[in-house]
Amino acid sequence: MCGIIGYIGHQQAIPFLLDGLRRLEYRGYDSSGVAVKNGDISVHKKTGKVADLEASLPTKVEGTCGIAHTRWATHGGVTDENAHPHCSADGKIALVHNGIIENARSLRNYLEKEGIKLRSETDSEVLVHMIDREISTGAKPLTAVRRTLKRARGTWGICVVFESHEKIICARNGSPLVIGLGSGENWVASDTLPLQALTQQVIRLEDGDLAEVSVDGIKTSRFDGRTTDSEVTSLDGEWGEAELGDYPHFMLKEIHEQPEALRQCLTGRLDLKNGNARLGGLGLTAKQLQKIPHVRLLGCGTALHASQVGRLVIEQLARVPTVAHVSSEFRHNNPVIETDAIHFAVSQSGETADTLAAVKEIQLKGGEVRGVINVVGSTIARQCGRGCYIHSGPEQSVASTKAFSNMVAALSLFAIQIGRARSLSREKGKHLVKSLQKVPQLVEEYLANQGPIDEVVDLVKDAKSVLFLGRGISAPVAREGALKLMEIAYIPCLAYPAGEMKHGPIALLEEGSPVVVVAPNDSLKEKTVSSIQECRARGAKIILIHEEGDSIAEEADISIPVPATDPMFTPMLTVLPLQLIAYKAALALGCDVDRPRNLAKSVTVE
Ligand code: F6R
Repeated sequence: MCGIIGYIGHQQAIPFLLDGLRRLEYRGYDSSGVAVKNGDISVHKKTGKVADLEASLPTKVEGTCGIAHTRWATHGGVTDENAHPHCSADGKIALVHNGIIENARSLRNYLEKEGIKLRSETDSEVLVHMIDREISTGAKPLTAVRRTLKRARGTWGICVVFESHEKIICARNGSPLVIGLGSGENWVASDTLPLQALTQQVIRLEDGDLAEVSVDGIKTSRFDGRTTDSEVTSLDGEWGEAELGDYPHFMLKEIHEQPEALRQCLTGRLDLKNGNARLGGLGLTAKQLQKIPHVRLLGCGTALHASQVGRLVIEQLARVPTVAHVSSEFRHNNPVIETDAIHFAVSQSGETADTLAAVKEIQLKGGEVRGVINVVGSTIARQCGRGCYIHSGPEQSVASTKAFSNMVAALSLFAIQIGRARSLSREKGKHLVKSLQKVPQLVEEYLANQGPIDEVVDLVKDAKSVLFLGRGISAPVAREGALKLMEIAYIPCLAYPAGEMKHGPIALLEEGSPVVVVAPNDSLKEKTVSSIQECRARGAKIILIHEEGDSIAEEADISIPVPATDPMFTPMLTVLPLQLIAYKAALALGCDVDRPRNLAKSVTVE
């Protein structure tokens, strides 16, 4: 969703701002804009891509301090006026805002009564006028921002520049801001990706923080005016390259990064000798694990599907009741929270508002939540305080791929750890740990020999709809395949547990209907064969994802074998052809693979 980048220093701001905006494009947006200070403040905004903004800029936009924004519309349509930055009436203050101002309507009424004309339909614009009013009473910039935010309700990450002050004022509440530290220059951004090539030293603002960022220093303070010492952290040690390299799209790059991503997740966490796994960051002893009444996992979209796989692995290996919940539903159903149960918030970005809200609901009711998160230092990771990072490296394609595999891997590690603390034998543990250790190699083998994906694309790309089926641990994999194809190729897809197909979706089948079946060589395979036959009897074409050497291949119209592994770990292999089918179908249909319409990478609104 919306992104922010700001610069103050001794160099021209515009190259940093434009480069930062390009690096924020992955979050999803529909317009962008910049404000650069050079005596007065010049503002340029444009709907469309960052390249459209760049093309519309005058040849020289000079100034060594500026702020910029990519907007994903929430309040008000996609127009140049609604794009950020927003300015005070005299143009002497400019502001960019991520988040939502919930009482914007009443603040707007108040401003209009005071004779102020707002130029946009956004909730954000009210803030700049409120700040301007405070400035006109003689308040200093920081005080003006603080007083304004005291009257605002909602979430914000804001950056404000003032014509007559050499600083950027920033504030965070619910929308992340990170300050990148340089020598005689500093940056501000809504995530670390635009900062990685510029500096390794960062300060991550906390909710309720304000910061004055100037050429030679950063002063942070709290909402109530107390000054704070902010911790400087290093970005070193976060693996992965944020650049595209030789790949045409981030999605393809990230699919191919899965072997390395999985190794990063598993390294140091497997105890081969004792057939155990170690997730030290969870802070749970074997004694505590023995007493846990149940486990609950929370996530959205792909993270939900990974949680549904994790639920089955945990329940199978540890024999402890486990449920996966849709985060966006969770807190609205007044859930009963057992304080000695384990809750996991599963999220790639660590910023998903629905999952964050679920975490807060559990904490409010006295429960503890642990994060299973990719982005280090993200809001959910910090809200949870404890958990395990999945170490996928930066994921920039909107369609999540390597994060799915690593979430499954991390939850599998937990399943082994809790299993071993309960009834899972050392022998079985050893077998599982060995199998898990081999998965990255198997993923590599499959990616080197992907099977007839192009044939599948020919079959699905013009289909009215595609049905995805799987049983047991493969049911969430089928859902994940359907989500991928739907979100980037815009093909209507349905996913069902294979046994449910005859209770409704079978009505859709006609001659030539494509049905993708995920059927690894597990105890449910024979049952899935019956579902395949029911589909074939209605003329459906079966695209079968199965394990190498398995005779089930005979049931397929198009057979895609993946390397065999332990039944608990098949999702990390069977998901691969589904990711590739979606990628290649989107390409064949001329879709924008990395930035599908209407979607955003981190969904920071409920
Ligand atoms: C699908 C996709 C989304 C996300 C969902 C949760 O490819 O990317 O469905 O999985 O928005 O996002 P995170 O994992 O960041 O909480």
